[in-house]
Amino acid sequence: MKEVLITILRDKNTSITKFRKAAEGIAFILAWQTASHLEKEQVSVDTPITKAIGSKIKNNIILIPILRSALSLVSPFLKVFNNAKVGFLGLKRDEKTFIPKIYYKNFPEISSKDNVIILDPMIATGGSGSEAIKILKESGIKEEKIIFVAVISALVGIKKIKKEYPKVKIICAQEDKELNDKMFIIPGLGDFGDRFFGTPQKI
Ligand code: URA
Repeated sequence: MKEVLITILRDKNTSITKFRKAAEGIAFILAWQTASHLEKEQVSVDTPITKAIGSKIKNNIILIPILRSALSLVSPFLKVFNNAKVGFLGLKRDEKTFIPKIYYKNFPEISSKDNVIILDPMIATGGSGSEAIKILKESGIKEEKIIFVAVISALVGIKKIKKEYPKVKIICAQEDKELNDKMFIIPGLGDFGDRFFGTPQKI
């Protein structure tokens, strides 16, 4: 199903309604995939008949969507992780140098045991992703507690993040090979945020 949804997202003729529906679908798939990597603990519950042994996710979950495009992933992730807290990180790439600059940060209290899930639909150069991880590490969060979730990534971006932060787990629905000279992913889907929110496309 991942491939079907990615194809809908890639198609430039996909309407905003269909784009949002496909983005929601892929976000659910990614959220369940993320859940399978989180540490669980055994619990005992009373069914109406008897006791049963089951499991629950061991530690709290903090979602960190990178503004603006990752706002599209927050609602489906909260439907899977109902009690997650959400922190926001605003990063903007300089138009010429492509170096990301932080313009907004609002995190909840994060303990060293918490699972921190960074959301960013597109990993292009990996610059924003790396910067986000750096900021989280500076806030005292351990690399191994961070999971990075993306819809599409370019190989170069994934490589950069893996090289700089080898203990961060990356969960991504689709890896594309290249970037163009404007640092858009090829074949990619254009600007995710513009297509999701309906703002004018920069390409
Ligand atoms: N961000 C996007 O939305 N699309 C790209 O191709 C790269 C970064």
